[in-house]
Amino acid sequence: MASDPRYVRRFSRTERTLHWVHASAFFVLLASGLILYLPSLSELVGRRPFVKDVHFDTALAWLVAIALVVALGDRRGLRRTLAELDAFDEDDRLWLRRIDRPQGRFNAGQKVNAALTAAFALLFTVSGFLLWYGERDHRFRFASTILLHDGLMYVSLVLLVGHLYLALIYPATRHALRGMTTGSVRRDWALQHHRKWVDEDG
Ligand code: HEM
Ligand code: HEM
Repeated sequence: MASDPRYVRRFSRTERTLHWVHASAFFVLLASGLILYLPSLSELVGRRPFVKDVHFDTALAWLVAIALVVALGDRRGLRRTLAELDAFDEDDRLWLRRIDRPQGRFNAGQKVNAALTAAFALLFTVSGFLLWYGERDHRFRFASTILLHDGLMYVSLVLLVGHLYLALIYPATRHALRGMTTGSVRRDWALQHHRKWVDEDG
């Protein structure tokens, strides 16, 4: 499809793998975390020690898988993507104030979402490991750790609902899913939503 002029390449294989590894682990962590968190679900499922193991082992697998994708994948491409996500210009600022401005490869909302996702991944990891370690060494047991971990879950849930709505339901944006599955999107769609990116890439 890359040679078809009606389409433009949006995500590399490395980027798509990174996204889906992150998303799959996130869903398992969310589901197992909710079973631990909600008394009604805990009672229904039972086997708390097993669910705790699933939660913690998934967290480890998640970190290893992310590190592997970065180590074995197209690191130069990832660095470029990071720079694109990190660059916030006047058009982005105006766009966030709901003034229609042309956007680059990622719109300002996506840049904010990506930054929050990365920050939350870090905070989940730190608080999660502290919860785990605090059970083994009580000097590292703090009431605020579980509050942070639970708070992150709530905010992540809100972000996720918005993300899924835009990716799967909202007619104007759901074509993006093609980019995250096959790697390319229609040029006319890209021009409409990410004009500066298409103009730059030709
Ligand atoms: C590296 C990432 C993570 C690690 C190491 C981690 C670790 C842990 C640990 C050790 C517990 C305590 C289990 C217990 O004693 O009952 C826990 C609980 C929990 N985790 Fe995670 N977790 C991680 C990511 C996540 C994510 C991404 C979510 C949700 C999106 C999540 C949601 C929860 C919830 C809801 C609980 C139950 C807390 C409670 O009982 O109030 N965790 N996690
Ligand atoms: C079934 C679940 C999911 C679907 C269908 C989905 C779909 C997508 C799509 C289509 C894009 C590309 C948007 C574009 O063209 O620019 C994207 C990007 C992204 N996704 Fe997901 N995603 C899912 C789950 C997740 C989860 C669980 C997370 C994080 C916890 C996540 C984080 C991101 C981030 C940070 C980006 C880049 C910034 C953005 O577009 O907001 N996704 N996703």
